[in-house]
Amino acid sequence: MKIAVLPGDGIGTEITAQAVRVLKALALPMELEEAPVGGAAYDRLGDPLPESTLNLAKAADAILFGAVGGWQYDTQPRSKRPEQAVLGLRKHLGLFANLRPSIVYPELVNASTLKAEVVSGLDLLILRELTGDVYFGQPRGVRIAEDGPFKGQREGFDTMRYAEGEIRRIMHVGFAAARKRGKKLCSVDKANVLETMQLWKDVAADVAREYPDVAFSSMYVDNAAMQLIRNPKQFDVMVTGNMFGDILSDEASMLTGSIGMQPSASLNESSKGLYEPIHGSAPDIAGKNLANPLATILSAAMMLRYSFDKDEAAGRIESAVRKVLAQGLRTADIYEAGTTKVGTVEMGDAVLKAL
Ligand code: IPM
Ligand code: MG
Repeated sequence: MKIAVLPGDGIGTEITAQAVRVLKALALPMELEEAPVGGAAYDRLGDPLPESTLNLAKAADAILFGAVGGWQYDTQPRSKRPEQAVLGLRKHLGLFANLRPSIVYPELVNASTLKAEVVSGLDLLILRELTGDVYFGQPRGVRIAEDGPFKGQREGFDTMRYAEGEIRRIMHVGFAAARKRGKKLCSVDKANVLETMQLWKDVAADVAREYPDVAFSSMYVDNAAMQLIRNPKQFDVMVTGNMFGDILSDEASMLTGSIGMQPSASLNESSKGLYEPIHGSAPDIAGKNLANPLATILSAAMMLRYSFDKDEAAGRIESAVRKVLAQGLRTADIYEAGTTKVGTVEMGDAVLKAL
């Protein structure tokens, strides 16, 4: 098992360090190799995704990724910004299927801002298409408007596009996942306004015919955003495009109490995967031993399950996480009265001990 470890920026280094400790403690035959990415790579090598890092990621069976970004890079030209590293890795490795589970642990039911009865027992999977949509569509840019009331002014433009095959393959991943879970799939679109999304909806309905055992529905994204807050437990698997999935998965993470608890897997056609917490680099708390490492530790568990077929080892990590939560240990983001506040390293210690 060759694993590329790309810690990145901000809290990325702290949280991946804890996940690496956990992986090593399993004593499985694995090789871990680290490389800089994001702002850290830009500072050292002048490129957020240096060729050496990309080559390491390509050669690895799986990638453990921390987080990238920082205020100091926000004024850089777009190609030099840390975010380009994430987008570049996704595109170069063909990581089109992004699995973002939202699970409400019984111990954290009060950490959510929503009423306990709305979220308790929630087990939702958002499947986000990750290599298409307006994120990658060409053409894009800023030009001078040639007509209309704002003629002569600068206008920004991006292109939303999805090919039929792109929609089909993500739907197949979604239906296969739904089959192993609650057997319900909701495709989220904006077919009432956008041509691309009408195609999305039609192709989703077509693929659904191949999975008669899975209950299929379609929902407009604005309604889906509302339903996620109103009654999230109506959903099992939600499949959506790149941009809507970005937004809905952040929203769904808060159902669980903290974005610091949310792992993710981004897979290509051959189950090579990049595993990362869905949160960012949180520069405001970086280096202070405050970050929650559990999302990254749970991402390592997803790695074992999806890239290496090691369900048992993945389950051990997940049980260890449940155990530390049951012991009442909490990082600041999930802290509530009556629990014990711990730092990033202490949380890692506790997970190791529980393992
Ligand atoms: C995410 C992030 C990224 C995205 C950024 C960092 C490019 O928000 O993984 O959700 O928009 O996909
Ligand atoms: Mg996001």
